[in-house]
Amino acid sequence: MTTETTHIYPIFDRMLNREDKESLLRQHSVMIWFTGLSGSGKSTIAIALERELQKRGLLCRILDGDNIRSGINNNLGFSEEDRVENIRRIAEIGKLFVDTGIITIAAFISPNNDLREMAARIIGPDDFMEIYVSTPIEECERRDVKGLYAKARRGEIKNFTGISAPFEAPAHPALSLDTSRLSLEESVAQLLQLILPKVLPAGQK
Ligand code: ADX
Repeated sequence: MTTETTHIYPIFDRMLNREDKESLLRQHSVMIWFTGLSGSGKSTIAIALERELQKRGLLCRILDGDNIRSGINNNLGFSEEDRVENIRRIAEIGKLFVDTGIITIAAFISPNNDLREMAARIIGPDDFMEIYVSTPIEECERRDVKGLYAKARRGEIKNFTGISAPFEAPAHPALSLDTSRLSLEESVAQLLQLILPKVLPAGQK
């Protein structure tokens, strides 16, 4: 892929900026980045969190693996190279939402530190909160909501994370949530404690 920016003239400096959008929405934006195995509970927690934030008058946008992969990233598979491109595009899209003042919730396996560091670099490390959904693989495989672990064990899916492709746990996540030990309500409560002070405007905390 080539990057050609010679005849490109961005107009970012003339557009209304993030602070303008944040004051319109009366909130501060942030990227809440979930990482964890398939079936660990990322999407379920993301959806429950979005509902709680919306109840408090806060505008969110969820970006989720299966949704993004059926749309903008439907030309990508699960090779190392494609996973990099998957996360690069998601981070760039996520940055647009964060720059629009929207609390953005990303739920992608994002299986290694390099991928998550790239995402944090694109979005800006100060706006990036890494949440590790640390549900053990035995529990993810026991649940096997989509039947994919069984297929991966039979060799019908190649490069399946946790079975035939690696997953590297984050070293210093802002929070770890093991859904085999915590109820959904408990996970969301822990998240709200962490997130609300960052997203509520001064005076409402
Ligand atoms: S990532 O590794 O590139 O971050 P992403 O979160 O976008 O993955 O997509 C993961 C989802 O794709 C899984 O929840 C599962 O439904 C599906 N999937 C299909 N094939 C694979 C595979 N080989 N490895 C992992 N997930 C897969």
